[in-house]
This record gives sequence, structure tokens and C-alpha cells, in this order.
Amino acid sequence: MSAPIIAFFNNKGGVGKTSLVFHLSWMYADLGINVLAADLDPQSNLTAAFLEDELLEKFWPDGEHSNTIFGSIEPLLRGTGDIVEKPYVERIDERINLLIGDLELGRPVKAYERWAKRIPEVYSEEILGKKPKTGGVGSQNQMGSVRHYRSLMPMAQEAHKPIFHLRPADGAIGSLQNAIHDARDNFKQLAVEIARRCKIDIPNNLN
Ligand SMILES: Nc1ncnc2c1ncn2[C@@H]1O[C@H](COP(=O)(O)OP(=O)(O)O)[C@@H](O)[C@H]1O
Ligand SMILES: [Mg+2]
Repeated sequence: MSAPIIAFFNNKGGVGKTSLVFHLSWMYADLGINVLAADLDPQSNLTAAFLEDELLEKFWPDGEHSNTIFGSIEPLLRGTGDIVEKPYVERIDERINLLIGDLELGRPVKAYERWAKRIPEVYSEEILGKKPKTGGVGSQNQMGSVRHYRSLMPMAQEAHKPIFHLRPADGAIGSLQNAIHDARDNFKQLAVEIARRCKIDIPNNLN
């Protein structure tokens, strides 16, 4: 059976894509689904969200990056061979593995930059039938402005955990407990709906 793939893409930065993928990965794992998170963004923020700085240094030394996504396609770029058949994956949790991102990916991807830049505009006009809106602070498209997540996000980043795994020991005390509970509900609802649309079965649909 081939594994379903969910891709998250847009070329506007800072709207919460990486945070969303990080949280959904954990939510799907909590729901009993095995997740391979693939960080294809040259900024590699998803990799940085999952891994401690020390480990990042191990994967991104000067020179060889054989265990990253860039390392997997490098033979093709150099013309010395095909892409690596079985790329390295880092185990994050019982049900989460990560394909390590790489800033080096900025090189081959640059060739597509002009083309990719057109996508949100074309999508907005052709599919949604509206002129694209510019983002800016407070835009409804920005997750950063959603409810109380703003106060929990730095804590979650520090702990390399999703918001809904935060505990009092992480500093999440008092009314933040309710916010964590809400976040769990929100992400669960979103994860279940995305899975439904992608025809992915959820093994542990617990509350
Ligand atoms: N719901 C949220 N509440 C508060 N801050 C958020 C939220 N989602 C993302 N952020 C913060 O906004 C910034 C950009 O988010 P990120 O997920 O990296 O966006 P993108 O991947 O689209 O560039 C990060 O600093 C992140 O911590
Ligand atoms: Mg990002």
C-alpha cells in the first residue's frame, strides 16, 4: 500500500505553515498514525522545530551533509548517480520520523523561484476567483493572530513539543491549561478533517 502524502505549500513566509505541519505531525502520531515528516523547505525550520541545536550541528556540519534531504539528491545534482534510494530518517518519537531538511536545498530550488512566486496569485485569482490579499500583521491568514496560541508558542518551541503536550513543568500553569486543552481540540478537529479529505483512516479516534 502506498502511503498518503499531505503537502503544505505557499511561498509567503511567516504565516504558520511550519508550525502547522509540526503540530499536525504530533496530532496524527497521538491519533495512532505513523508520520514521516519531510522538510523540503530550504529554510529547514521544521527540522529545527523537531531537533535540539546539538543534533542540528551534527546533521549540518561544514562539507558533507549525507544524512539530509540535500544529501539524498546530491549525486543527481553532481551528475555522479541517481537520488539515494533510501534516505536517512531521524526517529523523533514512536510514530514520527523526520527527513532532515537542509539550507543547501536553496540552491537547486532557486531555479524555480520565479515560477513558484506566481503560485499564490494564480491560485487566488483562478481558483478562488479573488485578487490576492496582502498579509500583514492581523491578517486572517496568519496563524500568529489566532487566539491564545501566541503565549504558548514560545514555550512549545523551547520544549520542542507541540502546544498540546505542554505540562506545568514546561511553565504552562493556571489559565494556560485551558488554552492547551482548546489547542488539542482545535488541532484534533483539523487533523481529523484533513485526514477525512485525504481518505486516511484514524486508528485511535479518542477524545
Ligand atoms: N498560532 C500561532 N500563534 C503564535 N505564533 C505563531 C503561531 N503560528 C506560528 N507562529 C509563529 O510565527 C512565526 C512563523 O511561523 P512559521 O510556522 O515558521 O511560518 P512559515 O512556515 O509559514 O514561515 C514563528 O515564529 C512561529 O513561532
Ligand atoms: Mg516555514
